[in-house]
Amino acid sequence: MKKYLIAPSILSADCARLGEDISKALSAGGDLVHFDVMDNHYVPNLTMGPMVVKALRNYGITAPIDVHLMVDPVDRIIPDFAEAGANYITFHPEASQHIDRTLQLIKNSGCHSGLALNPATPLNILDYVMHKLDIILVMSVNPGFSGQLFIPNTLHKIRQVRRLINESGYDIFLAVDGGITVNNFSAIAAEGADIFVVGSTIFDQIDYKKVIDAMRCTAIRAIP
Ligand code: DX5
Ligand code: ZN
Repeated sequence: MKKYLIAPSILSADCARLGEDISKALSAGGDLVHFDVMDNHYVPNLTMGPMVVKALRNYGITAPIDVHLMVDPVDRIIPDFAEAGANYITFHPEASQHIDRTLQLIKNSGCHSGLALNPATPLNILDYVMHKLDIILVMSVNPGFSGQLFIPNTLHKIRQVRRLINESGYDIFLAVDGGITVNNFSAIAAEGADIFVVGSTIFDQIDYKKVIDAMRCTAIRAIP
């Protein structure tokens, strides 16, 4: 597996030119699209639904799309995202009445499944579902907005999740989402993250490739 997958987050992209801007971030070295869905209920912000995933596919985006659902309830909308072209669907356990059922629904819809853990969500939520997970997404900010500061004590949590994944023997991606910058990238990599969700650090720059290369470089330098 390629080390340090970078997932540009649509939340910081130019919504008026979404297809073009996402293509630009993928050509600059992004590996998968992180598609943030917010409902102004589970989180205090509102973004986009399945029709935008479909529009990105129609535009010609072929990279994997990871849909990060920050919505409550989650189950009703999952098949719609799968049909629209999502590859991964990740949800917050607090937003599902039946976590195992929701994970199975994602699988039955033909997608890979993930759980997103808020900074204060305990890890024992993972105990009986590791075998149904393809991604564990550790939130390093509270969900709802791009451009927030990385919460430093989530580094410890990332390390704990890495240990749980290794001990489980399952092939699960460890993703980290929120506040990732060129300056903290290598510290996050050192704790064992595979996927780095990056919004404002990429899209606030003019040269996306420069910032993506800089992030990967710091990690490769620090951890040979
Ligand atoms: C926050 C979202 C993130 C966000 C990351 O709720 O889940 O994906 O877009 O943006 P940055 O990288 O700016 O923190
Ligand atoms: Zn996200």
